[in-house]
Amino acid sequence: MDKEKKILYSGMQATNTLTLGNYLGALKNWVSMHEEYECFYGVMDLHSLTVRQEPAEFRKNARSLYALYVAAGLDPEKNCVYYQSHVPAHTQLAWILNCFTYMGELSRMTQYKDKAAKHADNVNAGLFTYPVLMASDILLYQADVVPVGVDQKQHLEITRDIAERFNSIYGDVFTVPEAYIGKAGAKVMSLQDPTKKMSKSDENPNATVFLLDDKDTIIRKFKRAVTDSDAEIRYDAENKPGVSNLMSIYSAVSKKSYEEIEKEFAGSGYGDFKIAVGERVAEELLPIQNKYQELMKEKSFIESCMKNNAEKAFYVSNKTLRKVYKKVGLTELPRS
Ligand code: TRP
Repeated sequence: MDKEKKILYSGMQATNTLTLGNYLGALKNWVSMHEEYECFYGVMDLHSLTVRQEPAEFRKNARSLYALYVAAGLDPEKNCVYYQSHVPAHTQLAWILNCFTYMGELSRMTQYKDKAAKHADNVNAGLFTYPVLMASDILLYQADVVPVGVDQKQHLEITRDIAERFNSIYGDVFTVPEAYIGKAGAKVMSLQDPTKKMSKSDENPNATVFLLDDKDTIIRKFKRAVTDSDAEIRYDAENKPGVSNLMSIYSAVSKKSYEEIEKEFAGSGYGDFKIAVGERVAEELLPIQNKYQELMKEKSFIESCMKNNAEKAFYVSNKTLRKVYKKVGLTELPRS
């Protein structure tokens, strides 16, 4: 590993297809992080099992996520991109850390409470200890920074608490990670209710743009985006959330500032602006979609990256795991 660089860790769950929000808010920004950080990105398939999955579809979604990471520009030769389930240390450390995490703190996690309410017929122990597996993901790689959305900040806090607790007993074993807040990615809101985050599980099919939507679909969704009645293209997130959301999306894909966008569309109607945003988004996504199709057809490239990176992740994570096993007093297997 490159010791000069700080370590960055992140990942997404291996479920469903990615949205424009996942792309502009996270993935697009991940692509260049390796210039500054030693980066690890996981396909978090074990986390996805906290909700019931149809096996064949699940397997396909995980592969699709890996291919989308790569198609979006995450270079698997410059970043360690791997499946969580290919590296046993994640679950091995999770067991140990379960013994250093309190029922009380886990029951305060808002994501747990939300998911338990949503899947009342399957409130399993994995859902409850989800944050401990996430802490293991991060701590195994001695990550310095973790780019996460606001919805995951509480999980990062508990990760820090667990790391500090463990370190206070056993010495400096884990790096205590920070949330990465830098050139923050765009927070993309629903096209139908711009006060809500764009979500892959929205019931309204016009609310969410998916990374694999074709051009016509993308433009149609933008045409139907909810705006306001004063017909002026001006950034004002509070009073004009719909237009502001479109501007923020346009800004993320065109690299133009809000002032530049206001100038560009001064005197234009919402209709023209919506089409322009839709076209620019479709243009941004087209090369990703083409690359994705290519990668899904030509499996050997992805497979060899998956394998090489799993080996690297295995090596790095096992160093931390061995240290932890030793610190807590587990017995090493005699070598011969
Ligand atoms: N819980 C994260 C999410 O749903 C995914 C995740 C799992 C993750 N392990 C992680 C993110 C480690 C960052 C670091 O978005």
